[in-house]
Amino acid sequence: MAPKLVVSCAILFHLLFFCGTSSYAASSINLIKYGAKPDGKTDSTQPFLKAWAVACKSATAATVYVPYGRYLVKAVVFRGPCRNRITVRIDGTIVAPTDYRALGNSGYWILFTKVNRVSVIGGTLDAKGAGFWACRRSGKNCPVGARSITFNWANNILVSGLTSINSQLTHFVINSCNDVKVQNVKLYAPDQSPNTDGIHVQSSTGVTITGSTLQTGDDCISIGPGTRNLVMSSIKCGPGHGVSIGSLGRDLNEAGVQNVTLTNSVFSGSDNGVRIKTWARSSNGFVKNVVFQNIIMNNVKNPIIIDQNYCPSNQGCPRQSSGVKISGVTYKNIRGTSATQEAVTFDCSRSSPCRGITLHDIKLTYMNKAATSSCKNVGGTSRGVLVPKSCL
Ligand SMILES: *[C@@H]1O[C@H](CO)[C@@H](O)[C@H](O)[C@H]1NC(C)=O
Repeated sequence: MAPKLVVSCAILFHLLFFCGTSSYAASSINLIKYGAKPDGKTDSTQPFLKAWAVACKSATAATVYVPYGRYLVKAVVFRGPCRNRITVRIDGTIVAPTDYRALGNSGYWILFTKVNRVSVIGGTLDAKGAGFWACRRSGKNCPVGARSITFNWANNILVSGLTSINSQLTHFVINSCNDVKVQNVKLYAPDQSPNTDGIHVQSSTGVTITGSTLQTGDDCISIGPGTRNLVMSSIKCGPGHGVSIGSLGRDLNEAGVQNVTLTNSVFSGSDNGVRIKTWARSSNGFVKNVVFQNIIMNNVKNPIIIDQNYCPSNQGCPRQSSGVKISGVTYKNIRGTSATQEAVTFDCSRSSPCRGITLHDIKLTYMNKAATSSCKNVGGTSRGVLVPKSCL
C-alpha cells in the first residue's frame, strides 16, 4: 500500500501546486483565449500582442500557443526584454492582409526586438507577396515592402520548423543578434520574385543555420557586414541566387565578415553557388576565414565566384576598385555540374587583391566536360583533384 499512497500524494501535490499558482496559468497562453479567430479573416493582431504581453510579464517560462487554423495578422512588434524564456509554438498559419499595402510601408511584418531567450517552433507564415511583386514589376510607385520575420538586437534565439512562403522581400532577417539557432526552416518564393532573399544575417555573432530548404527569387542566404562566427550546414538552396557573402563594401567604413562556414549542402539550378560579392568602391571592410566544404552543385551558373566589381548601372563607383580585403577562403570537396562553361571565377580587386584562397578537391563539369576557371588579382594554393584546372 505504501508506494501507492506516495504516488497519490505526489499527484495531489502537483494538482494543488498547479491550480494554486498563478504563474502556472501564465505559462501556456492560447491565442484563441485572447480573441484570435482561426478563420484567416478576423484581425488577430491585438490578441497576438496581448498574449505576448502576458508571456513577457511571466516570471516563469511561458509558451504562446497558436493552434491550427489561419490567423490574419498585420505588422506586429514583439518587444522585449521579457522576464523569462518565451516559446512561441505555432501549429497554425499566420497570414498577411490580402492588400499588400497594409504591410508595405512598415518594412517588416513580424518583428522581434530586444528579446532574449525566445524560441519560435513550427508554424507557417504566408505573406501573400504576389501583389507586391506585381506592383514592383509594373514600375509603379510601390511601398518599400515588408520582410516576413525579423529579429533585431536579440540574443539566445531558436527558430525551428518554421515555413515561410511568398514574402514581399526577404523572408527572415537576423540583425544585431547573438547566439541564434535556425533549424529545419523552409522558405519558398517563386524563382523570379524580386528581392525575396531567404535568410539575411548582419551585425550578428554566433548564428547557426542547419537543415533548411531555401527556394527563393534572390539569395538563399545573404551575409552582410558585421557577421562573425556563422555556421551553415545541410542547406538545400535553389532556385535562387545562391549563398552570398555580400554585397559588401558599399560604405567606406564598414564592419567586416569573419569565420563563416558552409558545409554539407546542395545547390540546384541556382544562379550562384558560393559567392563573395563586393562593390567596386573604396571601403575598409574585409572578409576573412571562410570555409565552403562538402558541397554539391547541380546545374549552377556560377558554382564558385568572387566578384569584386559589383556596380549596378555603373554608378557611384568612381575608381572602379573595391577596398574590401578578402583573405583565407577555402573551397574543399565541391563537386557537380555548372550551367555555364566558367565554373570558377575569381574577379578580385585591383587595389586589394584576394589572398590565401585555397582550392582543394574540386570537380565541376559543364556539359560532361571539364569546366573552366578564371583568375584576376588573386593569390592562393591548390591541392588534390582539380577540375577545372586551377588558375591560382
Ligand atoms: C568560429 O565560429 C565558431 C562557431 O560559432 C566558433 O565555435 C569558433 O570558436 C569560431 N572561431 C574563432 C577563431 O573565432
